[in-house]
Amino acid sequence: MRVCLWFFVVVIVFGFGDGKNADQRLRTERISGSAGDVLEDNPVGRLKVYVYELPSKYNKKLLQKDPRCLTHMFAAEIFMHRFLLSSPVRTLNPEEADWFYTPIYPTCDLTPTGLPLPFNSPRMMRSAIQLLSSNWPYWNRTEGADHFFVVPHDFGACFHYQEEKAIERGILPLLRRATLVQTFGQRNHVCLNEGSITIPPYAPPQKMQAHQIPLDTPRSIFVYFRGLFYDVNNDPEGGYYARGARAAVWENFKNNPLFDISTDHPTTYYEDMQRAIFCLCPLGWAPWSPRLVEAVVFGCIPVIIADDIVLPFADAIPWEEIGVFVAEEDVPHLDTFLTSIPPEVILRKQRLLANPSMKRAMLFPQPAQPGDAFHQILNGLARKLPHDRTVYLKPGQKVLNWTAGPAGDLKPW
Ligand SMILES: *[C@@H]1O[C@H](CO)[C@@H](O)[C@H](O)[C@H]1NC(C)=O
Ligand SMILES: *[C@@H]1O[C@H](CO)[C@@H](O)[C@H](O)[C@H]1NC(C)=O
Repeated sequence: MRVCLWFFVVVIVFGFGDGKNADQRLRTERISGSAGDVLEDNPVGRLKVYVYELPSKYNKKLLQKDPRCLTHMFAAEIFMHRFLLSSPVRTLNPEEADWFYTPIYPTCDLTPTGLPLPFNSPRMMRSAIQLLSSNWPYWNRTEGADHFFVVPHDFGACFHYQEEKAIERGILPLLRRATLVQTFGQRNHVCLNEGSITIPPYAPPQKMQAHQIPLDTPRSIFVYFRGLFYDVNNDPEGGYYARGARAAVWENFKNNPLFDISTDHPTTYYEDMQRAIFCLCPLGWAPWSPRLVEAVVFGCIPVIIADDIVLPFADAIPWEEIGVFVAEEDVPHLDTFLTSIPPEVILRKQRLLANPSMKRAMLFPQPAQPGDAFHQILNGLARKLPHDRTVYLKPGQKVLNWTAGPAGDLKPW
């Protein structure tokens, strides 16, 4: 019965090679009002950023030791540094800066298998902040409130990959006044400060570009997902990993012909996404999964399964309009829910997704391009200006506690 319904949808909406429908499908649509326009803002002239000069042990040396840091999903911390060095928003005069940036790569410490280890990050951060607070007057002026840090780790500046431990640690005390640019985004969570900027994870732009297929290829897959359903090593029951959403997808739909889901990662993965109407994004705690980026870039409607998530650049990207949101507890009804979305709603989402500004905002290309994720970060920082007067402390006034936090974090780095 469902299969029949699905073929009905395919024929009326996607028309299998019908030229008129193909044209209609390719037309892009802009959202009137703020959202669509904000994405195209040009940050140049709206803010000035001062880039501190730090010894290379905080950045370049780490990268030399492990060049894989340039390709893993948290590589934005490195590319943002490179981008700022040659950006027209950079100022060499700290007196005129609106924002201060500290070039530090706290995530560039990888296990042999390439997973980032956050254990040294707190000491490294503390060491860098000590250095800049004693060599420049700007840190003490606000204790970091006009400084931003790129901290794209699992739980951002909580610097631990296990949620329980991350919550116990909280945001590194010295970073509590700073603006944090991070992939972690979960409402009402101690690891997300109000005023943080949530960014997409890094996904390799050239590689994705190389797998583009013709835009008028029919989307003959209804629902697509590739990835793990269970974290067999840490969580065999599946209740913790992605909060059970992935396990629920598998158990309910592994035999459903509308669902093209599997743990196998085929060489045609990117092409398949361009042949799919819906791409599942069971994101768990954070938009750090590259799946969200891939779905947007390949025009596959992201089905976001992550209660209380804060999505990347949510004040600029109209996620509600381009994506579909499914509550974690509603995963067992995904099939009914997705098949009952009216064709015209699907078509509108596809037209919005076809808008190049959405795709650009999700990527960190080399070299940078107007409207890309680097520019969205700058736009986010510009929208926070001017700084409230209360961020400037009175001479001698201290707010941060330099001795708070686990004893291990206070050791020199
Ligand atoms: C900033 O404050 C710290 C500690 O409170 C102090 O050690 C440092 O010398 C101050 N920096 C400047 C540039 O005055
Ligand atoms: C700073 O934190 C330490 C450790 O938690 C605490 O013992 C100390 O009282 C705090 N200092 C102030 C001034 O709050």
